[in-house]
Amino acid sequence: MIKKQQFICPYTEYDHLDELEPQDAELVRLAHEATHNSYAPYSRFHVGAAVRMANGEIVTGNNVENAAYPSGLCAERVAMFAAMAKYPGVAMEALAVVAHSETKTIDEPVAPCGACRQVMVEVEQVSKRPLRILCQGQTGRIMAFDGVGSLMPFIFLDKFL
Ligand code: THU
Repeated sequence: MIKKQQFICPYTEYDHLDELEPQDAELVRLAHEATHNSYAPYSRFHVGAAVRMANGEIVTGNNVENAAYPSGLCAERVAMFAAMAKYPGVAMEALAVVAHSETKTIDEPVAPCGACRQVMVEVEQVSKRPLRILCQGQTGRIMAFDGVGSLMPFIFLDKFL
């Protein structure tokens, strides 16, 4: 039997940072600060990310580009990998990602790329809790996802191996 199905991707939208819980607003603010460390001479698109750990620590990351383009890495993975290197075994609770462009004003939330979403899946599994993901542009609304499942349906999991 053929069944048409649909997948629901729930998220919460906030018009302003001050509508967020203070610790989430702070995480987004730190992600904005991290855009200043971005090395993006090719795209001129500066991405900042900040991870809140279960021990209360915050680890930030920024995109790092390279003349051999695929050798660069997104801000989200820089932040998550740095968090795993600095605090191995500590769960991650939330990740904020924002972007500033040199060529235009980004007023829509930045959407993490597929590779970063796949890493978030594993981070969530290891952390044994949903990862809250907060996305913003340089300005404008903030989208919040309670768990990577809303961003990444039909995920590839280690149980398939
Ligand atoms: N980028 C990120 O850091 N995170 C994203 O979610 C999307 C894209 C970076 C990669 C590259 O340095 C630049 O943005 C343009 O794609």
